Amino acid sequence: MTDTYLNLVNSGFTKKIAQQLGLPRPAILRRFRPGQPLVDGPVLVLGSGADADTVARILSGTSGPGGPAADGAIDPVSTIPGWDLDVRRDPAAGDRYAAVVLVLTEVAHPDDLAGAVLALGSVLKTLPPHARIVTVSRPATADEGPATAAARQGIDGILRSVAKELRAGATANGVVMADGVPVTAPSALGALRFFLSTRSAFVDGQLLDIDTDGGALPLDWDRPLEGRVAVVTGAARGIGAAIAATLARDGATVVAVDVPAAGEQLAAVANRVHGTALQLDVTTPDAGTRILEHAMARHGRLDIVVHNAGILRDKLLANMTPDRWGSIIAVNIAAQLRINEQLLTSGDFTNEPRIVALASTSGIAGNRGQTNYAASKGGVIGMVRATAPLLTAFGGTANAVAPGFIETDMTAKIPPVMRQVARRLNSLQQGGQPIDVAEAVAFLASPQAGGVVGHVLRVCGQNLVGQ
Ligand code: NAI
Repeated sequence: MTDTYLNLVNSGFTKKIAQQLGLPRPAILRRFRPGQPLVDGPVLVLGSGADADTVARILSGTSGPGGPAADGAIDPVSTIPGWDLDVRRDPAAGDRYAAVVLVLTEVAHPDDLAGAVLALGSVLKTLPPHARIVTVSRPATADEGPATAAARQGIDGILRSVAKELRAGATANGVVMADGVPVTAPSALGALRFFLSTRSAFVDGQLLDIDTDGGALPLDWDRPLEGRVAVVTGAARGIGAAIAATLARDGATVVAVDVPAAGEQLAAVANRVHGTALQLDVTTPDAGTRILEHAMARHGRLDIVVHNAGILRDKLLANMTPDRWGSIIAVNIAAQLRINEQLLTSGDFTNEPRIVALASTSGIAGNRGQTNYAASKGGVIGMVRATAPLLTAFGGTANAVAPGFIETDMTAKIPPVMRQVARRLNSLQQGGQPIDVAEAVAFLASPQAGGVVGHVLRVCGQNLVGQ
């Protein structure tokens, strides 16, 4: 789907008119291309303490074997190759930072927030388009006492508010590491890198929890899925087709699954990604077994399952029919539960497996006319939370991605005026593209996300609906 308004306010004469009229001007987001620099300009690392120093070392490339050796002791940072970014530690007049990282793991009282946060404020007006702000912090649990919890939860409020103040495609997101998880954990660095990069173009105002130091840093950040075999359901079009292409770009061999009626489109997707096609309705009772048999027979293994197939049958609850209710539950959640059970009991889904399922902001905030859909998508969130622990013994994870408004055939059916409104109701003032969801799925499927266990990552441009 084309967003005509977005294109008009970003081109020539109509751009000037929009400026003069003070109309909202959503930016054309910069999206990931292989070979692109991770961050296109200097990075300001704010915060004091050992974690801030470690982050600065890794970002700047003074970590790694060639970095400064600590006296005698083994320095864990020296085993991590640096990212070779242009890192600064103090704001300087005239600098324009492409990214600002606030390392706030040591805050113990709300009084501790002012230094780094006001320093961020002092550079906000000079940030270039598409800038990135990332906080690195700890969760506000009861363990450390009320003052620390207050300071830590305050970061949540700051982050979400700053995200709403940014303009021109800039975003703000946070990495929240459980107590005891070091800042060098694969998922802490993986999430930091995801949020800094253009892969997270439509992720805004989100805080991602890192539960463990599980997972592994990839040998090649551009191809973290090399050697892995991934199944994507509903892959014939829309978000599923983008997920198939993105996982293949990142190195995976892809099995594309969709209903027989979509067979032609499915074959085209499978060919494009050099994978294989499996025509299968996910509600078939032995769908999980058939997926596994196909993957084992054609590719010798199965590592990643992306539950993307989904349908809509909107109706106000007062007018809901058993058929509309039942078909949504069957496709959007019951099929996922059954497939997972078959995979988990097979004994063949045990090599650091990843399950990533498509939820929706409707499953978090609710949506008029969508009790059935929201039941299924809320169900996905509950499902990943309870499935993740079943996979930890194998180094596996289960997580969900909750898209907001994404431009696909599904949302093209929304009446035009409602569609225009839905697009503008987020901080980036536009709908996302299928690739935006696919990038988040690819991150959660990657080895570096092994410490993200049972969570939901929203890809919604900081939709004003819900959290
Ligand atoms: P789409 O309707 O464009 O594509 C869905 C695909 O799933 C189609 O190829 C369809 O044939 C396939 N499918 C449907 N039932 C199936 C079944 N029983 N077995 C196998 N394949 C089946 O949808 P879109 O927009 O690409 O959405 C993908 C996922 O993202 C869905 O789970 C949807 O609920 C979710 N989502 C989409 C949002 C959006 O704004 N487009 C927002 C939030 C969530």
